[in-house]
Amino acid sequence: MTRLSLTRPDDFHLHLRDGAMLAGIAPESARDFARAIIMPNLVPPVVTGAQAAAYRARIDAALPGAGFTPLMTLYLTEDTDPADVVAAHRAGIITAVKLYPAGATTNSASGVRDFDRVRPVFEAMAEAGVPLCVHGEVTDAEIDIFDRESVFIDRVLDPVRRAHPGLRVIMEHVTTQDAVDYVRSADQGLGATITAHHLVINRNSLLVGGMRPHYYCLPVAKREIHRLALVEAATSGDARFFLGTDSAPHSDDRKECECCAAGCFTATNTMPLLAQVFEREDALDRLEGFVAHYGADFYGLPRNRGTLVMERQDTPVAFPAKIDTGAGPVTVFNPGFDLHWRVVAG
Ligand code: NCD
Ligand code: ZN
Repeated sequence: MTRLSLTRPDDFHLHLRDGAMLAGIAPESARDFARAIIMPNLVPPVVTGAQAAAYRARIDAALPGAGFTPLMTLYLTEDTDPADVVAAHRAGIITAVKLYPAGATTNSASGVRDFDRVRPVFEAMAEAGVPLCVHGEVTDAEIDIFDRESVFIDRVLDPVRRAHPGLRVIMEHVTTQDAVDYVRSADQGLGATITAHHLVINRNSLLVGGMRPHYYCLPVAKREIHRLALVEAATSGDARFFLGTDSAPHSDDRKECECCAAGCFTATNTMPLLAQVFEREDALDRLEGFVAHYGADFYGLPRNRGTLVMERQDTPVAFPAKIDTGAGPVTVFNPGFDLHWRVVAG
C-alpha cells in the first residue's frame, strides 16, 4: 500500500500549553488532527468551567481558521465542585475531567492525594456521563518508577472503578502489559490511550549509550516486552485502545539540563510514526480505527467527516528537527529510524 485515505484523526491526549508556546506548537497538531482532548495542567491548572472556557478561547485565537476543535478538560483537585463539573459539561465547555495523582508528573502539584475526598465528584460524573481521564501512576516514594503504573491499577484504579461502576474511565498513555491486560479484563466503561512514542521506544532507547532527554516522559518507557504489548494492543483492532499522543512540548533548555522535564513532543510527526509502526505489523488497515474511530466512539462523539491522505515514499521523509516558538526551540521526537510516510492532504 502506498497511499492511505483515513477519516481525519483525533488526539485524545494533548498538551497545548499557553502563551508563546501555545502559539508556536498548536499548528503542529491542527495540521493533521480535527480534535484533541486538551490537558489542563497549566500553571496554575484549569480547575473551573470558567477557566476552561477562557483557555479554549486562547486556543481558538492561536489557531484562526484551522478547523480544529479543542475538547477541554478540568483538572480534578480535592476542592473540585461537582456542580461546576456537571454544569460545564452540560454547557459543552468541557468534555472530560482529568485525574492526576498529586506529584505524578509535570505541573501536578494540585492533584489528588486522598481519593475519598473526590468521591462526590466521581458520583456526579457517573450520573451525568462525564468521562474521567486518568494519569495512572502512584506517587509513593517507595514505589519504583517502573512499577508505578501497575501498582496504580491495583491500589487506585480498580477500587475507584468498583466504587463507581457507572463512571467511564480512560486510562491514559498506558505503558505496560499489565495495563493492557487490565483494560482487556474490564467488561465495560474502560478505554485506554496509547502514544506514538511508547510504540517506538523502550527504556533502553532512553538509557543505553547515554541518556536521551527527548525520550524522557511520564509514564517512563518500560521494558521491550511492554512496548510489544502496546504495539499488539494498538494494532489489534480492539476498540478499547485509541490514540492519545501525550505530545508534551518543553523548550530545549528545560530538556537539556540538570533536571530534565518529562515530555516527548510528537505532534509534528505522529501520523508518519504511526503509519510506519502499523505497516511493520502489516496492520495499515487498522490504523484508521485507532486514530479516528475508536476514541470518538468511546467518548460518544461523532466521527469526523474530513479525510487525511498519506503517501509512502521510498526515500526518507524529512521532518524539522525543532519547532521554533516564542518560548524557545522545541525538539521534535526523533524515532531513530527513517520515516517513509507523509501526510499529503488533510
Ligand atoms: C506531561 C507534561 O509535560 O505536561 N509530561 C509527560 O511526560 N507526559 C505531563 C503528563 O501528561 O504526564
Ligand atoms: Zn500528558
